[in-house]
Amino acid sequence: MSELNLILLGPPGAGKGTQAERLREDFALAHISTGDMLRAQVSEGTELGKQAQSYMQAGELVPDEVIIGMIMVRIGAADARDGFLLDGFPRNEQQADALGEALATLERRLLAVLLIEVSDDEVVRRLGGRRVCTKSGHVYHLEFDPPKHEGICDQDGSRLIQRDDDHEQTIRKRLEVYHAQTAPLIEYYEKEGLLRRFDGRRPPNEVNDHIRATLATLRLEDKL
Ligand code: AP5
Repeated sequence: MSELNLILLGPPGAGKGTQAERLREDFALAHISTGDMLRAQVSEGTELGKQAQSYMQAGELVPDEVIIGMIMVRIGAADARDGFLLDGFPRNEQQADALGEALATLERRLLAVLLIEVSDDEVVRRLGGRRVCTKSGHVYHLEFDPPKHEGICDQDGSRLIQRDDDHEQTIRKRLEVYHAQTAPLIEYYEKEGLLRRFDGRRPPNEVNDHIRATLATLRLEDKL
């Protein structure tokens, strides 16, 4: 049976992180989120974090040379050997090409690219109400998925905050960047026969059920 090597694709706020948290537990996958990795570098004040911060605050992509090297090291790590879930990478054609070449060299391949689709208006509503925990990045929404106690993470009791880039002007910029640079990857992976589409307007558990059912079928087909 092949490895469960997956990409989560979709606009900001589509629910990639929300689904990744569930899938990571269901399938014991290494969850590789470039956004989380970059935010960790920013909060540790590393050189890479300093380089990335201004791009992130402006809603722009961090330069490829910073991101690609970081991901190549991460997919080779021990916990990613049996499968990985990329969340936020690739985000343009250069990154997709670099990933394809690296996997070919390692004699590994992608099983599927999971596209979560939502409208721009929905993205703005979701990101305006998103809160994340300061300890492990667990994700909530003030209206759609509120914590049991206001401002406190259900899972680890840490404080919930609003992300720096979750303000309307930056959200609009992120959407513009998504449509210009990342959305062309839909056709890129469709041509490779890897793309699977999911209706991100459904509640999180329904999206999760649909993804799980699709992955179960893909795994079965791959075994035959
Ligand atoms: P990153 O952290 O990757 O942000 P993003 O792609 O913009 O995605 P988000 O994390 O905002 O959204 P999500 O889809 O995970 O949604 P979530 O599950 O939280 O990147 C941040 C920045 O880092 C970039 O702008 C860039 O500068 C840089 N960067 C990262 N990767 C890079 C790369 N490869 N190259 C260059 N630069 C890079 O859900 C959102 C909200 O909706 C939550 O409140 C949630 O509770 C709610 N929600 C989720 N699902 C549902 C649902 N089904 N129904 C109702 N509400 C829902």
